Amino acid sequence: MAGHVLIVDYGSQFTQLIARKTRAAGYYAEILPAGLPVGPYLGRRPGALILSGGPASALESGAPALDPALLEANLPILGICYGMQLLALNLGGKLTQEAAGEYGPAELSFTADSLLWRDLGSRPLQVWMSHGDRVEAVPEGFAVSGRTRDLPVAAMEDPGRKIYAIQFHPEVHHTERGEDILGNFLGIAGLEPSWRISSFALEAVEAIREKTGPDGHVLLALSGGVDSAVAAALLAKAIGPRLHCVFVDNGLLRQGEVEEVRDALGAAYPGLDLRIVDAGAIFLGRLAGVEDPEQKRRIIGHAFIEIFREEAGKLGQIDFLAQGTLYPDVIESISPKGPSAMIKSHHNVGGLPRDLPFTLIEPLRDLFKDEVRALGAELGVPDSLLWRHPFPGPGLAIRIIGAVEPEGLAILRKADAIVREELGLAGLERDVWQAFAVLLSSKSVGVMGDDRSYGRAVAIRAVTSVDAMTSDWARLPHDLLARLSSRIMNEVPGVNRVVYDISTKPPSTIEWE
Ligand code: XMP
Repeated sequence: MAGHVLIVDYGSQFTQLIARKTRAAGYYAEILPAGLPVGPYLGRRPGALILSGGPASALESGAPALDPALLEANLPILGICYGMQLLALNLGGKLTQEAAGEYGPAELSFTADSLLWRDLGSRPLQVWMSHGDRVEAVPEGFAVSGRTRDLPVAAMEDPGRKIYAIQFHPEVHHTERGEDILGNFLGIAGLEPSWRISSFALEAVEAIREKTGPDGHVLLALSGGVDSAVAAALLAKAIGPRLHCVFVDNGLLRQGEVEEVRDALGAAYPGLDLRIVDAGAIFLGRLAGVEDPEQKRRIIGHAFIEIFREEAGKLGQIDFLAQGTLYPDVIESISPKGPSAMIKSHHNVGGLPRDLPFTLIEPLRDLFKDEVRALGAELGVPDSLLWRHPFPGPGLAIRIIGAVEPEGLAILRKADAIVREELGLAGLERDVWQAFAVLLSSKSVGVMGDDRSYGRAVAIRAVTSVDAMTSDWARLPHDLLARLSSRIMNEVPGVNRVVYDISTKPPSTIEWE
């Protein structure tokens, strides 16, 4: 897409946020890792460059460098943090290494009028810093435009060449007016804020039609989650009856899940070819007696692929396989950082093998999750699907500690339905990332009426998170917890104890298995 923003990623943990904030301001942005030859960058025909922050020190040998060819391309550039230091170093300025660095909030004062500060007023802004090195002397042609108490050069610019640099991070939540600062830069760059999800939808529909031609048939595995539901909506709009959706009911879904997905998608897209495969007996048969979480994942993953292949075979002529891959996965797959250590084999479950005889089609691969939701709303996907909490591919199997059997599943389904219903009634669904019940393997003594009981324990897990990488336990109101406890113990036979999980991730994980 010509005229968009290209972000060169020097490894900052916030790089994705730059793209999201830029898009939120109406400008399309994409990310490429640092260190590529110049061709791939300029080949995207960007209208402006943003150089991200990064963990390295620009003064150390082997630190990721800025290719001078990028400077010679005469594009407007914004350097953020490490990006600023690279600009200073490459254009003839001077950097120094600090013993302590500066981390956290700081007050930015404007020391010169700048288009970058347009409409921001004159009072100092709270900004967020995270750097070891600092710019000591700005390159020739540059002026200092901002400072903090401890940092004389917090912003510098050469407006003639449209090169701007800031030491703080405009992309993080704790920087005041950060989105406006990014927007101001893109305005200076002469870009039009024309990125809209509605225009994306139109273009995506056209692109799908072009890729599939007049006769191509597409197969989509529906998981019941947001991404595959929105991919289905987009594909249905583009190719109607040539889309075939397969939803495998593995017997490990939540209460009412099959009906919910079927009704919501069926209502939004009458005539949608939605095949629900009732495979619960196969999955439960293979899981019988299996206690190890990773073995559960493997069994479920293999069974899923087997059933999916079988369904594809039954359908006859299929040319394309659609997947709801999102932009963060695309970025991760090209990241110079490489894969992170495996804690749980998430990506093997529900993932499809590479050797299926179809061409892949990934209509959401340029979007972030919030954009997928906006696109879904634009396409008429009901809120009940768009705002569903993430649900793991292996389903309830990894929320039953120990072996999965029908009785435990029935208990967990009922308890989980109560958790979700009460959270909805309290209006807290969108405030938590996930909330669910877990069936523990231990039994405990209780008293019911005048009799001793020896029953199962259920844990309630509710967490806040932005990306599931880290999470905190949700501070649910005590009266809600009280209601949950009393309803679960009264309404779910076999349960005589309810506990609330107050573990953060790390060191815990969100799921218990
Ligand atoms: P953890 O438990 O690792 O979970 O903190 C992080 C996020 O991933 C989901 N999750 C899974 N998703 N297959 C999936 O598709 C899996 O095997 C799996 N395990 C965990 C979890 O629900 C949370 O959103």
